[in-house]
This record gives sequence, C-alpha cells and structure tokens, in this order.
Amino acid sequence: MKGRVIFVAAGVSLILTGVAMPMIRQSPRLGDPMPGLSQDELARFTQGKAVFSREFTANTGLGPFFNNVSCAQCHEDPTTGGAGAFNEEDVDVERHATAGDQPTCNELSAFGGPVFREQTTGPPLPPIPAEAEVHVGSRSTPMLFGFGLIEAIPESAILAHEGRAGGRAARLPNGRLGRFGRKATDHDLPTFVTGAFVNEQGVIVEGVDVPVELSLADRDLTVDFIRFLAPPSPVHRDRMDHEGRETFHRVGCAECHVPSFVTKSPIKVLDQQVVYLYSDLLLHDMAPALADLCKGVAGRAEFRTEPLMGLRARTRFLHDGRALTLESAIVQHGGQGAPAAAAFLNLSRRDRDVLLRFLKSL
Ligand code: HEC
Ligand code: HEC
Repeated sequence: MKGRVIFVAAGVSLILTGVAMPMIRQSPRLGDPMPGLSQDELARFTQGKAVFSREFTANTGLGPFFNNVSCAQCHEDPTTGGAGAFNEEDVDVERHATAGDQPTCNELSAFGGPVFREQTTGPPLPPIPAEAEVHVGSRSTPMLFGFGLIEAIPESAILAHEGRAGGRAARLPNGRLGRFGRKATDHDLPTFVTGAFVNEQGVIVEGVDVPVELSLADRDLTVDFIRFLAPPSPVHRDRMDHEGRETFHRVGCAECHVPSFVTKSPIKVLDQQVVYLYSDLLLHDMAPALADLCKGVAGRAEFRTEPLMGLRARTRFLHDGRALTLESAIVQHGGQGAPAAAAFLNLSRRDRDVLLRFLKSL
C-alpha cells in the first residue's frame, strides 16, 4: 500500500488548454468505471471493487500460503486496479519457478509451484526445489485498466497477426488462445481471477476444490470490476507525438505492439470498441537475456508482447520490473525483438526522444 497519487485526467488538461468545449463529458480517470454502464453494471463494478479490496484473514480463508491479503494490496498504483508499487515491505513482486522447458515444462505443482508464495498463516513455506533444472523468475504486478476490452478481442483478430515478427498464438490445451499473464497462460478473466485468488491469497473459489472460501458470485463480481475498469483516456497529441508514432511504425515496434483492435462482446459497452492495446497478444522469443521460466505453453524465452496501453502511468518495465527507463526496456529486447531494438539505437538522439515522448502519451 502507499499513499494515493493524484492523477490529472486527460480531460482536465484538455479543458485547461482550452480545447474542450463545456459540453464534452470529462474523460474517465484511471480507476473509474467505463462511461455508459447500465445501473446494474455500475453496481456490479462497485460491489466487485469491494471484493477486489477485501482483506482476507486466516479466519476468512487466507492461506495457509499467500502473497498478499487482497487483490488491491498489489494492484494499487496509482489507484485500485493499477500496478504494483516497488520497494515496499509487502509482496508486490512474485516469485515463480518451474523446471525444464517446452515441450515438457514442469510447473512443480507437487512442490507448491509455479507461484511460490512468500507468506504463511502458520505452516512452513514450501521451498523452491533446489534442482539444476529449476528456473526462477520474478513478476511485477501489471495494471488492469481496460482489461475487459482485451478479453473482448476476437481470437480471429489475434490469429491474423500470427507469424509477424515470428509471433505465435498461445494455443492452450482447452482449445482457446491464451491472452492473460506474461506467458499468456489464460484465455479469459474468470479463469485468471480464479487462479489469482488461489495463488495470491490462498483463497479457494467455489467449484475448484474444497473447502470453499469464496462464492462464484463474488468471483464474478471481481471479474466485472476488472471488465468495467475504463481504459486509460486518450491524451491530446501534438505534431511531435504524431511524428513519434510514425517512428514507432518505421523502426518495427508495431510489428508486435499492434496499435489497436476492434472488440466483439455480448456486453454492450465492450462491443465494437476500438481498444488501443499496442500488443499482438502473441508469444515472442526474446532470447536468453530476458528468458527465465517456461509456463503454460510458453517456453523460457517466450513472452506475450506486453501491452503498452497505459504506459504513461507505469514506473518500471519488463516482466520483472528490471528496466527503470523506457529506453532501457527497449534496448533489452533480444531475439525476435532485436532488429527493432537495433533500429531504435540507430535513430538520431532527436528521433529517439520523439519516439519516447510518443510512448509516454500511451
Ligand atoms: C502478490 C501480488 C498480487 C496479488 C495479491 C494479486 N495479483 Fe494480480 N497479478 C500480479 C502479478 C505479479 C501478475 C503478473 C503475473 C504473470 O504475468 O504471470 C498479475 C496479473 C494479473 C492479471 C493479468 C494481467 C495481464 O497482464 O494479463 C489479472 C487479471 C490479475 N492479476 C487480477 C488479480 C486479482 C483479481 C487478484 C485478487 C484475487 C489479484 N490479481 C491479486 C500480482 C498480484
Ligand atoms: C518481436 C516483438 C517485439 C518488437 C518488435 C518490439 N517489442 Fe516491445 N515488447 C515485446 C515483448 C514480448 C515484451 C515483454 C518483454 C518482457 O516483459 O520481458 C515487450 C516489452 C516492451 C516494453 C515494456 C513494457 C512494460 O510495461 O513492461 C516497452 C516499453 C516496449 N516493449 C517498447 C517497444 C518499442 C518502443 C519497440 C520498437 C523499438 C518494441 N517494443 C519492439 C515484444 C516486442
């Protein structure tokens, strides 16, 4: 947890620069619900936020092994639903470990893996097995703004980009395409959220196992909170930003960081929306320097292209938060990302700055 940071909404800055007319509705701020929700949906968002923020104790199902006491304790920066903070006492960065590599990835479930929890309500924590083939990796907490729109991207639209810059879809054993998690392990929010309750809080969701510690109804409210979190509002872009966008395409970033998709969903506010995702949701081989562990169907060196939506609100970059600046994140792209990283380094100082400025507008 940390103190709230005041986030100046794009709508406010538009008004300050005199661009917006008084009739224009103010853009949602990070953490706000999507505009246009029905009364029932808004109620579900609010109730879901309460479950997302509920602090579990040993008496209400926490543990025995856990990372943190609520979803909101990790997804907190700059507000509930956001990214993890760094340099804190509590666990916002997780430890994952698996053994071997594809096609025979061993997620160490017999030993308490692949998410090795860091806190316990009593019994001793299972240690990460000290075998030679075991690989450990850290995972920083990502922000969840606009994630309902990510869920609503049709699989056919993801498949349409397959092969570009070597990307491959995460074809899961259940026949669906993985899109959530750095290793694209889950195809939808209910599945990911059920796993998050179990892995992060040791809270067992109805239907997964016994004893039941959370009802399906509460799980579904949590899902709707995430589904209805507004995406970061577009900011006013000037001529320089447009030049930065052109450079982003020219050096090959958009090959993987695909700027936008159109959604399809039975839920009206999530249907036929343009989502400015800046990801192809495909797995890419990023070479040994970034590689850590296999998980789901992804190999050790493979990562889902990280969406750049909301980049302006992030403070640390790459899957474990190792990059402290955008420039550092870019030059660490290896493997299928190496040509774009090299092209970035070949830009003039000015063109690099213009590109970085554009990234900070996302
Ligand atoms: C200990 C900190 C922590 C807690 C507690 C936590 N998360 Fe997360 N969350 C993470 C991390 C780290 C990841 C990235 C995991 C990965 O990439 O494999 C993540 C990823 C996610 C994602 C997918 C994001 C993406 O980029 O695809 C969703 C959705 C999510 N969490 C929801 C939740 C919900 C709901 C809860 C509460 C039940 C929760 N989280 C609790 C740390 C946390
Ligand atoms: C081959 C596909 C590919 C190309 C090309 C590519 N990226 Fe990436 N990018 C990725 C993947 C995969 C990740 C996640 C890597 C990780 O977390 O270790 C990533 C992560 C990032 C991140 C970190 C985001 C965060 O929040 O952690 C930034 C910033 C970024 N890319 C910018 C760029 C820019 C700018 C370019 C062009 C110079 C570019 N990328 C080209 C695949 C690509």
